[in-house]
Amino acid sequence: MTKTFPKNFLWGASISAHQTEGAYSSDGKGLSVQDTRSRKNHDIADFTVAVDHYHRYKEDIALLEELGVKIFRFSIAWTRIFPEGQGKINQAGITHYNDVINECLKHGIEPMITLNHFDLPQALEEKGGWTSRSTVDAFSNYVQTVFKAYGDRVKKWLTINEPNIMLLVDKKILGKSLSLQEKYQQFHHLMIAEKKAFKLCHEIVADGKIGPVPNISLVYPATSKPVDNEASLYFNSVRNWAYLDFSCFGRYNTVFKDYLNRQGVKITVDKEDEALMTNHFPDFIAMNFYTTITVEKPMSKKGLADGISDQQSEDIMEWGFYKGYTNPNLQKNEFNWTIDPLGLKTTLQTLYDRYHLPIIITENGLGAKDNLQADGAVHDSYRIDYLKQHITACLEAIQAGVDLFGYSPWSAIDLISVHEGISKRYGFIYVDRDEKNEKQLKRYKKDSFYWYQQLISTNQIP
Ligand code: BG6
Repeated sequence: MTKTFPKNFLWGASISAHQTEGAYSSDGKGLSVQDTRSRKNHDIADFTVAVDHYHRYKEDIALLEELGVKIFRFSIAWTRIFPEGQGKINQAGITHYNDVINECLKHGIEPMITLNHFDLPQALEEKGGWTSRSTVDAFSNYVQTVFKAYGDRVKKWLTINEPNIMLLVDKKILGKSLSLQEKYQQFHHLMIAEKKAFKLCHEIVADGKIGPVPNISLVYPATSKPVDNEASLYFNSVRNWAYLDFSCFGRYNTVFKDYLNRQGVKITVDKEDEALMTNHFPDFIAMNFYTTITVEKPMSKKGLADGISDQQSEDIMEWGFYKGYTNPNLQKNEFNWTIDPLGLKTTLQTLYDRYHLPIIITENGLGAKDNLQADGAVHDSYRIDYLKQHITACLEAIQAGVDLFGYSPWSAIDLISVHEGISKRYGFIYVDRDEKNEKQLKRYKKDSFYWYQQLISTNQIP
């Protein structure tokens, strides 16, 4: 098997606004649900300073040029553009992202922008958040504004980051739990908001391409028992296909509809929705992948899953449907996420077979505790191993016929993990701070930086 990737394969690196920028209330920025979220029992870094990317973006982008990436995935903080989520535009926010985009282009890096990454404006949350239809209108006004401001230079857009994980593990990401009824009304609004973004991008951005960005990973049955297979059918549908079937086919799939009916969830649909669902589609699928999930049919209501609680839904339990199960065939990282590179290949194959759209991986990586040495080195061979196995799986998927056109791992630079602080690091670039002490926030290149740099420059897995 050749180790060489197709010519023009898009090597990238990814971040989100709230996990990196800091400057949470500077230059007119409003608060988002990430700034206000409850962190009880969590003695970890918050997002007020994060890694100060807001002030250091020039230094960071120069490092990314040295790394050699062709694309840089970042998100826009909606609250920098509209501090209240709607209403008056904050010109300083528009200027900031103009500067970031121009800086990327100056360094020969294509910006790829996520419209929203977990940070809904708090002012909208107070009016009902995604449960309220008016948030769809506010989102549509916001995306129209950014397409007009940046669409002359930014041609690749991603809609709303991981709506599936946001709803499934609401407590860990949003700091509060939603009822099933709220969750799935939010699902409908998030997906309709996305349809509006597809439509507006195609209308406003010349040659603009846009895609959904869910977290997709196959759900395995715990055993060959038919009931466990049924459990995986339901969780695959609720976790993965419900979202992409809506985006790509414009419909609720039947397994998901059955799940909603049996759970007594009733979704309110607006007059305009049918036309939006069936007329506006993505140009590609962006997919985040860390691990696969295994489920069994729950036989008793007692206790949660045997899986250790994490963000990737292993601790899920829905009576009558599925229950997370720790896959004994897979190793775990130090934060209890299973490692399954073959699962990435089969997930890519399943996805491509189902939707026949080009795919780009917009997150994949290893969260680990790194150690900065006295000489400024960070020896993260474990991260190199993880990346090598997963990038090899990408190459195998391409060779098996999948139209995978890029790989943009998580993360370009160390950032604050969604619920585990700065101790869980993902970056190619180490940022010297700890949970409570921001220190100087100095940047250091890890061993994985040099490894990925070599991979990009040769277009081959070292
Ligand atoms: C994805 C998110 O779900 O997982 C990222 O899009 C997040 O924002 C990443 O950082 C890793 O999760 P965690 O909990 O380790 O930060």
